[in-house]
Amino acid sequence: MLFVNRDIVEKELLMKNCIDLMRKTLIEYSRREAIQVLRTAMKIGEKKILGVMPSALTSRQVAGAKIITVFPSNYQKGLPSHQGVVVLFETETGSLKAVVDGEAITGIRTAAVSAVATDALAREDAHILCVMGSGLQARRHLEAISLVRKITEVRVWDIDKAAAALYAKKMQAKYGIPVYDCGGDPERAVSGADIICTVTAARQPVLFSRYVSLGAHINAVGACAAADRELDTELVRRARFFGDSIESVTRESGDFIIPLKEGAIGEGHLLGEVGQILSGELPGRAAPEEITVFEALGLAVEDLAAANYIACRVEAKQTKGGEQ
Ligand SMILES: NC(=O)c1ccc[n+]([C@@H]2O[C@H](COP(=O)([O-])OP(=O)(O)OC[C@H]3O[C@@H](n4cnc5c(N)ncnc54)[C@H](O)[C@@H]3O)[C@@H](O)[C@H]2O)c1
Repeated sequence: MLFVNRDIVEKELLMKNCIDLMRKTLIEYSRREAIQVLRTAMKIGEKKILGVMPSALTSRQVAGAKIITVFPSNYQKGLPSHQGVVVLFETETGSLKAVVDGEAITGIRTAAVSAVATDALAREDAHILCVMGSGLQARRHLEAISLVRKITEVRVWDIDKAAAALYAKKMQAKYGIPVYDCGGDPERAVSGADIICTVTAARQPVLFSRYVSLGAHINAVGACAAADRELDTELVRRARFFGDSIESVTRESGDFIIPLKEGAIGEGHLLGEVGQILSGELPGRAAPEEITVFEALGLAVEDLAAANYIACRVEAKQTKGGEQ
């Protein structure tokens, strides 16, 4: 049995390769070739959750679960919001194959999935990226989105102005792209942006329809519970709306469920899954001026595919090392 720590995950799961892996996994999931049940999110205190996310990938003969704590206020203590492991079993004998750090996997695979959705839905000429939130996902999203579109300008907004300023400074130095801190003004950050990633711990809307320009693509990532949302009702109503999983969006996404309950949209407003666009089953963007939304709840199969990919690479290296 392997134990794979965070450093090894970061070394083995390169963003570029993870984007390809997530593309394949989302198609498999949408073809229902993967097995997944909805996550259990057990409350263990005020805004503190222990999540269990089980799935199986028959094509790769693995099953398992991510077990993760989600403590959204941890950013105030300089700690990660998601901490845990992915436990991986092989399905021939049911033996435990690996335990892989779940914090790093969550960070990388979530941004990789947004990149896949961006590639499928954003305009080809999209080049201005707006990031709402400036934590781990904000950092990973800049890395991932830059791999699918030629980003020439980044804007950042966060409720914590100092965190946004630091993000702008560090990311500009790291990627050599101008990164503008919008001084606490979300409209200034969003207006004219081609790609907007909402990666905040907010529970009420931070992205309002009036900020968003025609032709924008939005990755809505931060709100993952039925009572929480980052997008206002009017934006959801205006947009062509897709998700990672129909089941997850209709059960877990406040961005979708709240406008539905308000009567602003119908069930059919959710057009389908990004995996269906990737496999050619559904059309994606139909016109340059459309606003598209990708609603990401985060899927257990994404974690399992990533953990298996890493475990296979580590095993292969160990075997090779043993032969020498
Ligand atoms: N959909 C998925 O697959 C998925 C996966 C991982 C994380 N997430 C979610 O994405 C969000 C960001 O994750 P992270 O790991 O970057 O967390 P993080 O703790 O590193 O960063 C959170 C950021 O949100 C900001 N923030 C907090 N409250 C806010 C508010 N009310 N308005 C605006 N900004 C606010 C913080 O200042 C911080 O910059 C979290 O809500 C997390 O649960 C989703």
